[in-house]
Amino acid sequence: MTFWTFEPAGRLAGEVALPGDKSIAHRALIFGALARGRSTVSNLPDGDDVAATLRVLRGLGVAIASAPGGVAIIDGVAAHHDDAPGAGFREPAEPLDCHGSGTTARLLLGLLASIDGHAVLVGDASLRRRPMMRVVEPLRLMGAAIDGRDGGRLLPLTVRGARPRPTALARWESPVASAQIKSAILIAGLAADGRTVVAEPAPSRDHTERMLPHYGATVERGDDGTVAVVGPARLRARDVVVPGDVSGASFLLAAAALVPGSRVVARGISVNPGRSGFLHVLERAGARVEVVETGEVCGEPVADVTVAHAGELRAVEVAGDEVPSLIDELPLVAVLGARARGKTVVRDAAELRVKESDRIASMGRVLTPLGVDYEERPDGFEVTGPGPIRGEHRVETDDHRIAMAAAVAALAGEAGCRVEVSAGAARKSFPRFREAVAELLP
Ligand code: S3P
Repeated sequence: MTFWTFEPAGRLAGEVALPGDKSIAHRALIFGALARGRSTVSNLPDGDDVAATLRVLRGLGVAIASAPGGVAIIDGVAAHHDDAPGAGFREPAEPLDCHGSGTTARLLLGLLASIDGHAVLVGDASLRRRPMMRVVEPLRLMGAAIDGRDGGRLLPLTVRGARPRPTALARWESPVASAQIKSAILIAGLAADGRTVVAEPAPSRDHTERMLPHYGATVERGDDGTVAVVGPARLRARDVVVPGDVSGASFLLAAAALVPGSRVVARGISVNPGRSGFLHVLERAGARVEVVETGEVCGEPVADVTVAHAGELRAVEVAGDEVPSLIDELPLVAVLGARARGKTVVRDAAELRVKESDRIASMGRVLTPLGVDYEERPDGFEVTGPGPIRGEHRVETDDHRIAMAAAVAALAGEAGCRVEVSAGAARKSFPRFREAVAELLP
């Protein structure tokens, strides 16, 4: 295994070049595949996760041409436009490989559940550990026959889809606030005759419900936080320019908040409120944060965001309904906590344990050897600061967010701190991460 080395290197300044938003890209590809007509998706991120969604859709017989600069031209199959469930898709002869992408696996389970045919979903070692029953159970109730390891809890899964019965899901109460669960059910519901309703314990990112109406689907949002699709939904093609990825940006914006003299600008990023909780946390912690909205793509607000160091950081608490809005950025809250005055507390975030790695444990393995006072809790962590981040440490991980958080810890470290992280771990969402950091350094 090879490693990338990160060290404190003075202030970070400038504009960061970002990949396209991963969550929006997955959905634009899937909705384009379902639609009638040709959709062009530009500024697609070049990471492994979105490549997995492209590969699986092609495996289902969808014609998708790639053009340079992250452009995909999709000839949609016009699914649900006539009576045969899934007409237009091809029954795959080979297993569909989701690699390490949980979003690919879960959203496409929703699609496979709703089209006639048999398919096998496989993934890498990290994806094979991640819980699938949370989507398998409602999709079974909608009529799909799904089986797999441990009774269908784990990949590989086999799916035999059918036109879904929404009646069983007059209202599905998801036990977890998860956009992947909600989206899988809504995507299956596009094929159903009638309304498919999902409720969740706290609001998760709402890209699916924001984007679908732009493809011509009827989406209803209840005052009680529920969301429904009305099927069968006959989607129309549309072109999408994917905004920049706020999660990828957050690593560099966090570094700007931590390192004296820094100021980093991220242009054209998605600032969907269900995704931008970390920007609020940076502000509460005492960084200077400026958000200038510049437009909208498919109902998704887009902004230029600037973060500057503004003195010593304060400890923050993150809990309850705020958690889903920064679920992927919580490892960074631990790094901020190391350099913030007081006790930083993250609660109600047990979901972190079932991401690409157990991120509560992983952050302990990153920060404790660097001298940080980090304590695991069953549903989060506590970090007491400010203390120095120091020493030499090697972080061996295939979890992209842990690798990038470890790099940020090094950038905020004392002179002499040196952190090696597995090269290529960032490939999942931000292949140019190392170059993006280098471009901001003096
Ligand atoms: C995602 C949802 C989140 C997030 C993941 C992408 C999505 O997961 O962690 O990186 O695109 O729907 P959950 O909302 O399922 O926790």
